Amino acid sequence: MGVKRFNDYIGIYTKNMQYVFKIEDEFLRHVHFGDIIPLEDFSLEEIKEVSSNDSIYDVAKEEFSYHGRLRYKETCLKVEFEDGTRDLVLKFKNIILKDNQVEVYLQDDFYKLEVVLRFIIFEDEDIIARNVEVKNIGEDRVDIEKIFSFELNLEGLGFFIHNVGGHWGSEGLRFRQPINYSKVVLESRKGNTGHSNNPYFILERDATEDKGEVYFGVLEYSGNFKIVAEGMSYGHTRILAGINDFDSCITLKKGEGFKSPTVYFGYTKNGFSDMSRRLHRFIRNNIMPKNYNKNIRPVLYNSWEATLFDVKCEHQIELAKRAKELGCELFVIDDGWFGERNSDRAGLGDWYVNKEKFPKGLKPLIDEVKALGMDFGIWVEPEMVNPDSDLYRKHPEWVYQFKNRECTTSRNQLVLNMTLKEVQDYVYGFLDKLLSENDISFIKWDMNRPFSEAGALNLENRRSIWIKHTEAVFDIVKRLREKYPNVHFEACASGGGRIDLGSIRYFDQYWTSDNTDAFDRLKIQEAYSLIYPAIAMRSWVTDCPNFLTNRTIPLKFRFHCAMMGTLGIGGDINKWTEEEKNIAKKMIEEYKSIRHIVQFGDLYRLNSIQNDEIHSVQYVLEDESVVFTFLPRQNYSKSKFRIKLKGLDSNKKYKVTTEEKVYYKSGAYLMNYGIELELKGDYSSSATHVKCE
Ligand code: GLA
Repeated sequence: MGVKRFNDYIGIYTKNMQYVFKIEDEFLRHVHFGDIIPLEDFSLEEIKEVSSNDSIYDVAKEEFSYHGRLRYKETCLKVEFEDGTRDLVLKFKNIILKDNQVEVYLQDDFYKLEVVLRFIIFEDEDIIARNVEVKNIGEDRVDIEKIFSFELNLEGLGFFIHNVGGHWGSEGLRFRQPINYSKVVLESRKGNTGHSNNPYFILERDATEDKGEVYFGVLEYSGNFKIVAEGMSYGHTRILAGINDFDSCITLKKGEGFKSPTVYFGYTKNGFSDMSRRLHRFIRNNIMPKNYNKNIRPVLYNSWEATLFDVKCEHQIELAKRAKELGCELFVIDDGWFGERNSDRAGLGDWYVNKEKFPKGLKPLIDEVKALGMDFGIWVEPEMVNPDSDLYRKHPEWVYQFKNRECTTSRNQLVLNMTLKEVQDYVYGFLDKLLSENDISFIKWDMNRPFSEAGALNLENRRSIWIKHTEAVFDIVKRLREKYPNVHFEACASGGGRIDLGSIRYFDQYWTSDNTDAFDRLKIQEAYSLIYPAIAMRSWVTDCPNFLTNRTIPLKFRFHCAMMGTLGIGGDINKWTEEEKNIAKKMIEEYKSIRHIVQFGDLYRLNSIQNDEIHSVQYVLEDESVVFTFLPRQNYSKSKFRIKLKGLDSNKKYKVTTEEKVYYKSGAYLMNYGIELELKGDYSSSATHVKCE
């Protein structure tokens, strides 16, 4: 249906959702978001002032609020005009309705400033996208001090907002927080998304995995973001999302415009599970790089945890041979191969191959990896520099800095001023050289610290650095992808610091977390799965005791956990025993037989260790399904678990295989009675394959 107009009411439709707003001269009034209702039934009352202290602007459910007149609530746009006026008065000018797009044109009453509010409809995917463009159509300068893309007004209070907290190594600590007569702010001020809050919102009052109303939205942005939920005294709840106004400003000169990042949002009555599946499909098909989003992901080996900085050609070749024996398809060398990079104290920025470690360059290693039949990948951290590096000694002016302030190091490194053309050329140049001279299929692009002393003296508006940095980085990735379409990119920022829709537009996957402990990972991966698809979630099996938690977990459990995303191996496999290698070979083979279901299937969170003794996740693709189940801790003698599956066809017959046990049951049985599993002992786990016969 797309778009419909009835008088001043505009209805935006997807297969199962309707979004309605009304055009008035003074406001764009939000009317409805949810199930489909006849547009003709809507008739809003005029808003009248209740008291001089309760402005109609704060009472109104606006579609796009801005700083001006009697607005005291959180707003989407704040500007300063060249003459010092810091007050907007936007009037409705025009609306353009297309099949899958609505554009509302607003213009300031006096100043030559135009705002375009844009909705893009993904009808079949049940997703609506929304962004805002601000254009300076006058002569004078305009400073945008704040720009949010998204505003949604929901009737009533008592909503809960869901997001994640966390820190390095503990990305994805889920939380649910009430929104009452106050604000809840989710944000990053670090320059990237970071390991704490993530740029999305989920709002509900009583939803569960499978039931209840859920409103959700994800921001396509990979820098400082801000999401504000506000419970209004007038009985409604607002949610706004966009670029963080912290220390930020964008200047528009004559004729210039700025488009805010897009928010993809939706509504369901069927709980979090439906939301996640919808987002996973949408992200896979519409956001992820198109030249790779339909490809099966290879099993990767990464040597970081095995060697840290102590990389040597011969030793890497040994690891590559072992990786091949186990069944790996992509061999990745991590940090330490370049410059004087023997620890994190030196060498970053010097992108030449270390002669002591690789006397004949990377070629012997790459040739060996290729001869073994694997692809080759390599780690880089292009946005950073160690003060102890040739690059920094030559170009100390290339890092972000303020006059009269010492630059603060973190992990012994500084952030390069990516807004400088020379720096962009240097970064693009070394990567172009690396890719043109070597047979490389995969780049792990890391970013290991947030910004400080964020001064870029080259910028006319210095506070635009927060926006311009990431733009410059992604532009380089985009150009490299164009030139090297067969090279795939992983976004890493000390683990999961760049998990967002902004990065997955250019990168093919995320490094999910530096925490590779399989027990912690169950929680990290569950939080990740709320929004992001399994195909983009790289998970490694590493050694025990785990370097971060000191926990020892059986290899099988570690594998099952990592098999729930795109499988990688990150242990010191030269030291693995024959028994470990045999388990690994078998499990990699098993992963290869089910990975299409994990990477392209629908995900169901069946049980969670957040509130249950077992944890189980099911993936369904057409007539096939796989269920991973984990018992981290044995409870007394209980070892039998019955799990009801989801997403199957009641009328079909399925072959059910859990290790050696094979039986046949109807979809109706599997979904209503369930599969019976025996899990005994701490950290026991299983994978059950279900296939229509
Ligand atoms: C970060 C990454 C790790 C590894 C190291 C290398 O911490 O998250 O996976 O690449 O850097 O220094």
